[in-house]
Amino acid sequence: MTELKFLGHACFLLKNDKVTLLFDPFLTDNPISAASAGEIDCQYILVSHAHADHLGDAVAIAKRTGATIVSTAEVARLCAEQNVKAHAMHLGGKHGFEFGFVRITPAFHGSGVPGGHACGFIVNFFGKIIYHAGDTAIFGDMALLGRLESIDAALLPIGDNFTMGPQDAAEAAHMLQPKLVIPMHYNTWPLIAQSPEAFQEDVQTRFKIPVKILHPGEATELK
Ligand code: NI
Ligand code: MN
Repeated sequence: MTELKFLGHACFLLKNDKVTLLFDPFLTDNPISAASAGEIDCQYILVSHAHADHLGDAVAIAKRTGATIVSTAEVARLCAEQNVKAHAMHLGGKHGFEFGFVRITPAFHGSGVPGGHACGFIVNFFGKIIYHAGDTAIFGDMALLGRLESIDAALLPIGDNFTMGPQDAAEAAHMLQPKLVIPMHYNTWPLIAQSPEAFQEDVQTRFKIPVKILHPGEATELK
């Protein structure tokens, strides 16, 4: 059984009985956090970029658990300098891990570290394909990502202001053609307040793609 649990903002836990992956662990100071950094156990932490609402507690969790941080080279170096295990990758690169593979996708957004680049992730987790878009604008090559990988679940930001809003995220879903869309990066603060129900209705009606709304702390089984 593969479980995807939403911990608030862009933070997700992806796990089965063998391996646990953590995405963008912004838990401390996250107003909608559903977990504390001290209770997380994982083997890998995928960090889309070094803004505080994504890098978050990654280094502290990696130090305590021995987890490996996976990110673009500049962000990975920033983490490695703090004496944690880090695996550097970069845009367009794919690498095999014990659970499957990680493919680093472009994300149009600041990296939070000089010379760096923000990214998204396509993860093959024991055969299930999960796309975590990171913080990004919409871009036409999302259609290509959907052709390269048959995405089971796409985690898309809908908050607007810093990332895609609901209108753009709906078009992104249409390009990616995933089996399921899960919205993220909204309602953490008033500036990114959105109605996930309106987004769900729009995507399901116009594009016939199921949208699952996960409230912080809720999980779904990936079939
Ligand atoms: Ni950001
Ligand atoms: Mn963000």
